[in-house]
Amino acid sequence: WPYFLAALVFGYLLGSIPFGVLLTRLTGAGDLRSIGSGNIGATNVLRTGRKGLAAATLLGDMLKGTVAVAVAAQWGPNTALLAALGAFLGHLYPVWLRFRGGKGVATFLGCALGLKPLVALVFAIVWLATAFLTRYSSLSALVASVATVAAFFVVGERQMGELSIILVVLLWWAHRANITRLLKGTEGKIGQKG
Ligand code: G3P
Repeated sequence: WPYFLAALVFGYLLGSIPFGVLLTRLTGAGDLRSIGSGNIGATNVLRTGRKGLAAATLLGDMLKGTVAVAVAAQWGPNTALLAALGAFLGHLYPVWLRFRGGKGVATFLGCALGLKPLVALVFAIVWLATAFLTRYSSLSALVASVATVAAFFVVGERQMGELSIILVVLLWWAHRANITRLLKGTEGKIGQKG
């Protein structure tokens, strides 16, 4: 079990690096917390009008999950799963931001990529299709995350599927304000300010 603990802590430390906050601060793009939804993710970085910065945030928040999984996978059986859990928790509840982190979409995708690339592809396709049809980033993530759980079970990765259920419950919980806005019809569309 020392390896399990190490994987969890290692994942958490990587996951808690808030790329959106760091990149916007370093480039003087403003304080993400006081822009748009106030979230620290790529969707909200896009509301600053800086597309490149949003792409870099997406990549950073994603790859921290992938790297955590890929590294911890070398330590023994199931350590990759614990690293994924750690990275996801780190992004949602980073100690550096007094545990007020992001909503986990990019990190969820990055973890899936590290665990099972084919399943990450399912996430990406469902996200893009939903975004294309609705222009809602949050709704796309909510739908794609559920499709991902199904995809893990379909490809026969039961343990990954079970872990992803926990992550998706947390992801939906992190999106509770978005869900309320979607139901009221007041959710902002992709790229929209506000
Ligand atoms: O990635 C988070 C996205 O699903 C919603 O972000 O900023 O619109 O709350 P935001």
